[in-house]
Amino acid sequence: MLEAPPGCGGPELTAKATAAAGAHLHTVSLDLVFKPNRLLDLLEQAVKQTPRPCVIHIDRVEAVAGGESMAPFKSQVAAIFRWFLDAVSEEAGLAAVIGTTSVGAVDSSLTDSALLPRVLSIPPPDGRRRALLFESALGRVPTTEIDHELLASRSPGFSGADILAAVIHASARGIGVGPLTTEDLVEAVGETRPSLGSISLGEIPSYGFEKVANLVDVKQRLTEAVIWPMTRPEGFARLGIDPPKGMLLYGPPGTGKTFVIRALAHEAGAAFFPVKGAEMLDKYVGESERAVRDTFSRARAAAPAILFFDELDALAPVRGSSTNSVTDSVVAALLTELDGIGSRGQIFVIGATNRRDLIDPALLRSGRFEVHLELGLPEVEARRALLDIVDIPFDETVDLDELAARTDGLSFADLTGLLREAALQALRTDAHAMDVGMDELDRALERFR
Ligand SMILES: Nc1ncnc2c1ncn2[C@@H]1O[C@H](COP(=O)(O)OP(=O)(O)OP(=O)(O)O)[C@@H](O)[C@H]1O
Ligand SMILES: [Mg+2]
Repeated sequence: MLEAPPGCGGPELTAKATAAAGAHLHTVSLDLVFKPNRLLDLLEQAVKQTPRPCVIHIDRVEAVAGGESMAPFKSQVAAIFRWFLDAVSEEAGLAAVIGTTSVGAVDSSLTDSALLPRVLSIPPPDGRRRALLFESALGRVPTTEIDHELLASRSPGFSGADILAAVIHASARGIGVGPLTTEDLVEAVGETRPSLGSISLGEIPSYGFEKVANLVDVKQRLTEAVIWPMTRPEGFARLGIDPPKGMLLYGPPGTGKTFVIRALAHEAGAAFFPVKGAEMLDKYVGESERAVRDTFSRARAAAPAILFFDELDALAPVRGSSTNSVTDSVVAALLTELDGIGSRGQIFVIGATNRRDLIDPALLRSGRFEVHLELGLPEVEARRALLDIVDIPFDETVDLDELAARTDGLSFADLTGLLREAALQALRTDAHAMDVGMDELDRALERFR
């Protein structure tokens, strides 16, 4: 069984492998099959009349053996495939490659067959593969120096076929104008629709690390673990190390966990997939795991990407601890997906929680959310640093050092809330207020006591 999204080379790969093995290729088209008899005819023909050695390739098998397709004939179709697989396995010099865009779409009577022991998956092309696809699609097109990485970063959700379409589009327009440039291609990419789903890149936040007060160590670690592997992978290769695959931020509420990761998404310029733990918990059995798998596969298609599981404790509590059996299978799905990520810094997963002890420990081991960073309540210097970068104008009655000293025990979120409250107070007293004074701050502080 060969699983490949449309336009990603399933049939080409089968043809090349067959040729390399010196076998004949017999392709069975299911396009016009509407009745079991017709299917039986085609498969019988393939088994009995082809020269040996031969590879029988059946593509898009879900057209007859999946979902609602040919539903009234379900059991006949299953029986025909049983016969077919038997016949293929008994005959010397005969092999079958059964292609589908998604194994999940194929009836289980076929996928569970002991005679189809292997499933190979061609994932949607990630950034690296898209760069290679552009390189090969442009192989015989006259161009100037091309930045393949840039093209790859502009084409999340593109299949191989889409990339080819974009190149053809660019060259058709460029006829008589001279060699194609990177700009021509970027433009053509923008005018080509990605066929592998509309990949939501999340809203990339508009602020970067400059808006995040203090958290120096956290920012540094995030830069090393997430940004460097994307921008300078050769350094890691040279020193023979793999970048970490995932990170967990933990600490009390309001300490900036969510805030700093959103800033990171901006800094990294990578596709950003934020997921809120509780939102992914669907009451239907199976839906939540599918949502997890979907998120990972969308991230893979858009790589380099950052996957952010906020409030991870809600999504992945210690197995067996919850009355909700859904979370156990979500943890299992997460483990599988995390282990499936390559170690080349293309997808980075980050979790955030204020209860690290509630998270299933298997998720926190090496190769998964392996680096743990604690964010504590801010010290006085950290609070002072926040006061330095906020947009609120203070008047001359305000002593920032003193304010920082007097806000002991407040988190960054509390402190931001305090300032907002004081600013509102200023507006209440005077609708034309231009700045915030110590009086208003004192009043707001009262409320926080
Ligand atoms: N380092 C920081 N610099 C500037 N503002 C910050 C900082 N940390 C937090 N804030 C402010 O506090 C608000 C709340 O922070 P955030 O949502 O990141 O907390 P959290 O750690 O994710 O809390 P929770 O555990 O409740 O999810 C932010 O929206 C931001 O306005
Ligand atoms: Mg948060």
